[in-house]
Amino acid sequence: MARTKTPDVLVVGGGIIGLGVAWRTAQRGLDVTVVDPAPGGGAAQVAAGMLAPVTELQYGEEPLLRLGMASNERYAAFTAELSEATGLDTGYRRTGTLAVALDADDREELRELHGFHQRLGLTSHWLTGRECRKLEPMLAPGVRGGLHVTDDHQVDGRRLAAALVEACSRAGVRLHRASAAELLVTGGRASGVRLDDGEQVAAEQVVLAAGPYSHLLPGLPEGVLPAIRPVKGQILRLRIPRPYAPFLSRNVRAVVRGQHVYLVPRADGELVIGATSEEQGYDTTVTAGGVYELLRDAHELVPGLTELPLVETAAGLRPGSPDNAPLLGPTALPGLVAATGHYRNGVLLTPVTADLLAEHLATGTVPALAAPFSPSRFTTKAAA
Ligand code: GLY
Repeated sequence: MARTKTPDVLVVGGGIIGLGVAWRTAQRGLDVTVVDPAPGGGAAQVAAGMLAPVTELQYGEEPLLRLGMASNERYAAFTAELSEATGLDTGYRRTGTLAVALDADDREELRELHGFHQRLGLTSHWLTGRECRKLEPMLAPGVRGGLHVTDDHQVDGRRLAAALVEACSRAGVRLHRASAAELLVTGGRASGVRLDDGEQVAAEQVVLAAGPYSHLLPGLPEGVLPAIRPVKGQILRLRIPRPYAPFLSRNVRAVVRGQHVYLVPRADGELVIGATSEEQGYDTTVTAGGVYELLRDAHELVPGLTELPLVETAAGLRPGSPDNAPLLGPTALPGLVAATGHYRNGVLLTPVTADLLAEHLATGTVPALAAPFSPSRFTTKAAA
């Protein structure tokens, strides 16, 4: 089947990462096609949309912190530009986040985290339990203290995805609603994909942005990409009826029995409770146990939420790389570029991933911010 034009860039995967890269790359004047059976789908449809580089910081992840902070700083302008381009609201809200402690051990851990934040020059403020409840009166009376992180905000993943689909269309990105069945390699270089309908789409550069399915693309030479493991997250959506408003004013989170639980209140009355973290393969079943644990833990934080209507349960898959950091940039296979493995940070890292990858695709350079996340850190001998 003949095509009239060979795209400069072919993006495999139309989740928010792939769409963000496609949009920014098209803005640089390149001809871009995205291949996905349902553009705008993927983990963003399930995600709570917390933008939490500080409150989700793990010890030893400082390069990831820098990337997350850079993306967080871009969020206001990125979403404003998206809304301007599409007329769609992304639900970006500058709410800040309150991470609370429910017992003395949690309080010690949060205190240590506060010290870590201070050593890194991050903005977080220690509050007593009383001060936490003053900020959020629906918190349980037993809350022992907390960290107020004023720069960790939120966005609505579903609205963001819808805006990116529209922005891509308006920027001239071709959205090809099909699945990539095989990566085509010609003369030792990625040259396009064969689709599940048999059509072949050639391209100068191929971007692999297929989340936990990235390494499964047939035709990918051995050793180019590590396995991207699916990490299941179950999530609940409740609705705050008008007499309850404002139920919560900011993101609230805690570690309960070793599990992270967070509550994200949206401007439209939705309250998202997340999330489980389960490594069980490509299963997205919502389980009674998952729902029970989320409600039990969230109820310890905010007892009044059990009065709210439960309107949705869902499960999605986070794409986890072997070191839980993303793969950004050229791979060992010439012509193949990775934008995958964003694990718990896909929503947060969308703006910076889009900018860095567009820069690389348009100029061939690897921006300094992307260098620590080179896919080559996982390249095995077979592909070298
Ligand atoms: N970033 C939140 C989560 O992965 O659950």
